[in-house]
Amino acid sequence: MLSREENDLLTRVGPGTPAGEMLRRYWHPIGFAAELKKRPLKKRLLGEDLVLFRDDAGKLGLLTLRCAHRGTSLEFGHIEDGGIRCCYHGWLYAVDGRVMEQPGEPPESNFKDRVRQRAYKVEELGGVIFAYLGPDPAPLLPRWDVLVREDGVRARQGRLVHCNFFQMIENSVDQHHLKWLHRTASTPTWDDGEINPQPFDYGIVNTYTRRVDGKKWAHVNYFVFPTMNKTGNVEEGHPTEHRASSAGEVMRWRVPVDDTSSMHFTVEFGAARDGQTVKIMEDRSEQGIVDTKHGVYRWDDSIGWFARADQDRAAQESQGAIYDRSTEHLGATDKGVILLRRLYRESIEAVQNGRDPIAVVRDPAKNEMIRLVPHEDLLD
Ligand code: FES
Ligand SMILES: [Fe+2]
Repeated sequence: MLSREENDLLTRVGPGTPAGEMLRRYWHPIGFAAELKKRPLKKRLLGEDLVLFRDDAGKLGLLTLRCAHRGTSLEFGHIEDGGIRCCYHGWLYAVDGRVMEQPGEPPESNFKDRVRQRAYKVEELGGVIFAYLGPDPAPLLPRWDVLVREDGVRARQGRLVHCNFFQMIENSVDQHHLKWLHRTASTPTWDDGEINPQPFDYGIVNTYTRRVDGKKWAHVNYFVFPTMNKTGNVEEGHPTEHRASSAGEVMRWRVPVDDTSSMHFTVEFGAARDGQTVKIMEDRSEQGIVDTKHGVYRWDDSIGWFARADQDRAAQESQGAIYDRSTEHLGATDKGVILLRRLYRESIEAVQNGRDPIAVVRDPAKNEMIRLVPHEDLLD
């Protein structure tokens, strides 16, 4: 159980909040390369309203949304003349936030040199666009395997979830829910098993050991700071299959839009086997971050319950917009949740003491490709 203050500490993400400042030390996905065409896109990340665009030379830009002149949204701006031009009175901004033109101001005026739109760093990797909203020097954008591998197929999807990000990341360290929330006809044959979360360089290694039809299996996956997990490699028909199983390797990000909504990004990579492409999810990155309706979950007649894709969202959104943890009752199966909260508090403290939090990548030698291999092992 957490006090109201402890709950606020972990869940508030705006500028100046302890978790918000800690989260600003990392790169976060903000959109997909395929959704960003000619039109600028309105985005919201960590409680800040932003505009994402490419200038006419193809350079990515991420600026605060409202024009420094009189506040019109730059999502309606024109991409021209080397920047984004506000639709209202034509101020022209470069991707770095410089004001290049202020039509109507006297030619001798230096007014434009005294105004600047706040600009953030933005990079593209594996078809995903990442943003960094924190102080300089920015760390490296981590080159996670699913984003950089070229020996197979990659797919991306994104959607909006209407609750605080922290209840979403608690789900990723909660191994017990695989048996229940994602139950199939075979999960009742599992015993209750053993849950063992341990810290590692990038976050938490989760090991879930249980007996299935008389055999002992260990399921290993990763929580990766600050908002991700890496799962996969449990295929359909496997004795330990659950409804969240996947043949490919999957990384998911739960990115705070603000305190009460989150972007859920999924990138799946399926390595080719014997020269054959493996079947993975469909790429829907062109659709961008698809909205969902709070409280509405797709029913799947074939399983007689909510569809796999909506099961976690139903569990998480129904905890409340920001789950009030002063009413919870944690049990033995919640070890992962407890460890996650501890690592979050330590990371917040690290930032408050002028240090990097866990898993910030600054060494290029460690960033060629960061490989994490989830697995399901037969123990005896
Ligand atoms: S409000 Fe943008 S140019 Fe006036
Ligand atoms: Fe789940």
